[in-house]
Parts: sequence; structure tokens; C-alpha cells
Amino acid sequence: MAHVSSLIEQDILAYLDAHQHKSLLRFITCGSVDDGKSTLIGRLLYDSKMIFEDQLAALEKDSKKVGTQGGDIDFALLVDGLAAEREQGITIDVAYRYFSTEKRKFIVADTPGHEQYTRNMVTGASTADLAVILIDARKGVLVQTRRHSYLVSLIGIRKVVLAVNKMDLVGYNRGIFEQIVAEYREFAAQIGLTDILAIPISGLKGDNITATSGTMPWYQGPSLVNYLETVDVEDRAAAAPFRMSVQWVNRPDLDFRGFSGLIASGAVHPGDRVKVLPSGKEAKIARIVTQDGDLAEAIAGQSVTLTLDTEIDISRGDLLAHAANPPAVADQFNSTVVWMSDEPLLPGRLYWMKIGTKLVAATVTDIKHKTNVNTLEQLAAKSLSLNEIGSVNLSLDHPVPFDPYTENRETGGFILIDRLNNGTVGAGTLQFALRRAENIHWQAVDVNKHARAGLNRQKACVLWFTGLSGAGKSTIANLVEKQLFAQGRHTYLLDGDNVRHGLNRDLGFSDADRVENIRRVAEVSKLMVDAGLLVLVSFISPFRAERRLARQLLEDGEFLEVYVSTPLAVVESRDPKGLYKKARAGEIKNFTGISSPYEPPENAEIVIDTSRMTPEDAAAFILKTLEERGLVPGIRAEADTTPSA
Ligand code: ADX
Repeated sequence: MAHVSSLIEQDILAYLDAHQHKSLLRFITCGSVDDGKSTLIGRLLYDSKMIFEDQLAALEKDSKKVGTQGGDIDFALLVDGLAAEREQGITIDVAYRYFSTEKRKFIVADTPGHEQYTRNMVTGASTADLAVILIDARKGVLVQTRRHSYLVSLIGIRKVVLAVNKMDLVGYNRGIFEQIVAEYREFAAQIGLTDILAIPISGLKGDNITATSGTMPWYQGPSLVNYLETVDVEDRAAAAPFRMSVQWVNRPDLDFRGFSGLIASGAVHPGDRVKVLPSGKEAKIARIVTQDGDLAEAIAGQSVTLTLDTEIDISRGDLLAHAANPPAVADQFNSTVVWMSDEPLLPGRLYWMKIGTKLVAATVTDIKHKTNVNTLEQLAAKSLSLNEIGSVNLSLDHPVPFDPYTENRETGGFILIDRLNNGTVGAGTLQFALRRAENIHWQAVDVNKHARAGLNRQKACVLWFTGLSGAGKSTIANLVEKQLFAQGRHTYLLDGDNVRHGLNRDLGFSDADRVENIRRVAEVSKLMVDAGLLVLVSFISPFRAERRLARQLLEDGEFLEVYVSTPLAVVESRDPKGLYKKARAGEIKNFTGISSPYEPPENAEIVIDTSRMTPEDAAAFILKTLEERGLVPGIRAEADTTPSA
């Protein structure tokens, strides 16, 4: 790379040493191509000569051929060319560009500025210390400027450079610049951004980019590069208290037991007292072990193995923290979530939440509101779509240690993962723990489900009938219940239509409402199993995720999925309630099988196709399965003994 080639030639070791010890600034550029973002980044790369010679030659050639700058170099071509390259590698959503000057190394996260790229911008911003927000001097503060600034503040970036670009096109007019800056500062203060340096620039002409420009003598501040080189970014991770998430328990032999991980924040020394969370046990650090020998101190960003002075139980996913300054532990939170998946976030659905190295099951219990990213207006919402941002309540299946995101990005940030395909579907920040769960404990009771089911001479379980409307679920479930009842079994049939008249009468047929419908019924069926009953559930229950949730609420062997697999063509020709006809005519929206999906079970315990089997045969088949599984002991024996009794 050209700018240092002489030093590389003269003394490569001196060059490498100097390069290695330069500090690093990560920043994000916010703006769209129209604001001159590509031109600006292109110029930063060009001026720092972080362009390979062959790219440079191609750039000069292309600029002459297709450039818009009349033979001068068109920097936008450079960045847009890289962008095209990057689009081929579909997995990379954010382009990170590297450049360096004599004083500093830089990583720029370059993300598209449009609203449909909110998730990319959030991803790019998540590791940045500073944001350069670009404004076109001719247009001033726009809706997108507000959106970018809001996202920047949400991610916790505190330092902003307001780069008022294209000053050459407004005659380098001071009044225009100052008016824009005043308007921006007023808005930014409302979202908590106060550390702002405004610089009038021309990315195209190079004014105030690397050096201050004679074209705007009224501007007394630093050039953009000069500011980026010297700005003091406090290392927030280093300043925060010690936190390390255990990635691996390192136990090569009986004499050594170390806990390996990346230090998320703070510093640690031998002799420091640490607390293990969530258990709360304490010990002292004995050694800090690395490949290059033991250390007297390790800081945020280093990967180390720690040993302790006493044996305590620690496993992967636990957090080691400074004992005098530990994080809180909770399982319910208020949090802000940015949704990143094409499939909407639905309250009540289970997701994996990854916080540090820990993975827990999480569900959004409530969407307080979503925020219109352009106007910052708060709107009511039942779900969050791709790129939407919501303030939500989260509930986890295990307590986790955490810090509020504003205090520690590492222990207060998380991602949400789809449980079926393992893709990342959202990212979020924890604000505070909800106290409502704090004083509620699990009350032990002596009369439990086994006692009750024993008295009833049955094993409590759920027979979960799923299938299209009109498939025959309720008819068969009714027959099964009648026969169980005749045998003196204790049963209850929860039927979709009936439950929707009472407990679930507030719910309709949107995806979000169906998720909640099934969540409630799954919880009710769990209570009924606890009451010792044989529970029959007959709901379309179209989504795999919620049927899986119902299964997971129960113990192994307590949940039998009965897939009534009657094909759509058959149920539609039967159409017992005339609903398919109405759905085809467009009179019913979101009708399962027609305008709303049905996800068939993959591993149902029992499969029944009523186009091949009568309801009576189906009921007999299900009863036989219950017997074979030992859920209704004594039926045979009783049948044999009854006549002689
Ligand atoms: S579920 O999808 O949320 O599980 P549920 O089993 O409670 O549905 O209710 C289904 C019943 O509601 C159907 O049998 C039908 O009688 C009625 N229904 C009314 N509108 C719809 C619709 N849009 N989709 C499916 N069923 C509907």
C-alpha cells in the first residue's frame, strides 16, 4: 500500500511495530449515496492510500470512462465497486473497510442508509465508538437523518460527527451550515446525543477532509481526519467492572481446573475476589494463564484462562464478575428489540436468547410499543416485522446475570435466535429487570399430579389433536373422550371453538393471536395434567413452534400429538360449517389452508387420515395406543374381570 511503502522498504520491522501500536477507532458512517457517503469513504481510503495499486489504476481508468467528475477521480466508483463485490457474498450484510493514517487505524462500518436496511445499520453500529452522520447541505436535516441518529443513540454510541457535506454546492455558506447544525443539535438533545462535532465538508472537493480548507475560513475546528485521529474515545469496556463469560472449563488433568473465556469488560488480577453468577459463590483468582505464560493483569478484549483458589462449581455460560461490583440476576426484563427476520416477532413464541456465552429460552410476554424510526412516535403493536423496533417485556426460563446496556454493552446486549432453524432473528438491549417476578416463589405442594393420577387409576397426559378445520379433530376427540369416560377415566376436552367463546374470546386469527391462543391452551392443559386428568386438546394449532412449546411444558411421555391429516381437498369438499366457501370468496381473512399456513407435524405420535378411516376406527386406534403406552392401566384387566364380578 502506497503511503507507507518507503518505510516498508527501509525498515519493515519498524513499520510493523509502529502499525501495531497505533490505537484503533471503529466508526460507522450514516447516510445514503445521495448524501455523498460513497464519495466520502472513497476519499478517506484514497487519501490514506489504503487502496491497492491495481485498484487505483482501475479507478483512474473507470473514472475517465464512466465517471461523473469530468476526468477527475470519481471516488464513489471505488466504494460502489467494492459494494458490488460484496453483494456477491450474500452472507455479509455490513461492509467493514480498513484504513490507517500515521496516527491511527480505523475500521469503518459502511451500511446502506435506507429504512429497509435498519438491521444492517444496527449490526454495523454495534461495535462502533463513533458515528459520522452525513447531511447534504442543500437538503438539511431529513427524516433519514433522524432515523440514523435514533439508531445510533439506541446502540449506545455517544460521539457523533455531523458532517455537513456538499458545502461546495451551497457556496460554502456559513449561515446555511449554522442553521443545519442548530436544528440538528436541538433534535439530537431529545434522544440523548450531546457530544457532537459539526464539520462543513465537501467529500468531492476534499474540503476539510484531511486538511482544513481555505474555502471556509470561518470554520475554526479540525478537519474530519484530524478529528478522527485525535478524538478521545473512552474505552467503556475497560472502564466497566470485570466480567467474563465462561466459554470453556479447561480440565486437562486432575491437578488443573481453569475457566477460559474472553474478558468482556474491566480488568482482573491474581488475588482479586470474584463472584460466580448465577450461583453467587465467591473465590479468589489464583492465576491468569495464557499461552505466553502467566499474567499479572488481564483486561477487556483478552482471552485468558483463570484458576481459582478454591474448588467451586462453574460451568460453561456462567459469568465471573468482580465480587464487590457484581451484576444483577433476573429472568424478566424490560428491553428494546430490533427485529431482523422476515418472519415477524410474535409474543408468546419461544426463542433462544444468547447473552454472553449463555443460551436460554426466552419469550416476549408483551410489546409495550413499537417506535416509528422516522418520527420517533410510539405505536401500539401486536407483533414486530422486519426492521421494526419495539420496547418489550421479556421472560426467560432461567435467571441470567446482566447489566443495563447503558452501563455495559457486553453484558446488557443479546441476540434472539429461531429455535427451529437457528438463524438470528433479533438483537436487543436490556434496560432493567422487572421486579414483579422477584418475590414470587414456587410453592411446593404435597398432593401432586402423580398422587392425583394414581387415585384416578390413570397416568395424566395430553392428547393434542392438530389438523385443518373440518379434518375431524373434534369428532374423534369427542368419541375418544366418551369411551374413556365410560371406562370411568377422568378426562377433559378442550376444544378450539369452545375455548374461543370464553378464555380466548379476545383473540382472532392473526398469526400473533393464534400463537397466544395456543400458548394459553398449552398452559391450561399443563394445569389439567397436574390435576391428574387425561386431557384432550382439539385446536387447529397450525404452527410447529407452539405445538413444540406445548410439548416442552410437559414431561416426557405426557404429550401425544395426534395429527388428523385429512387433506385440504377432502376437508374443503366436506366443508361442515361452510367456512371454506366463505374463505374462498374472500369473506374470511387468514383462513387456515387457504390464506394462512398450516405446518404439518414432523414427528406426531399418532397420524390419522379420515379420508381412509372412519372416526370410530380412529378413536379405537387412539385408545389402543393409550393402552400400549400404559397411560390407562387396567382397562384390559377390568374388561376381563367385569363379567365375573
Ligand atoms: S387456531 O389456529 O388458533 O388453533 P382454533 O382451533 O382455535 O384455531 O379455532 C379454529 C376454529 O375457528 C375453526 O374450526 C373454525 O370453526 C373457526 N374459524 C373462524 N375463522 C377461522 C380462520 N380464519 N381460520 C381457521 N379457523 C377459523
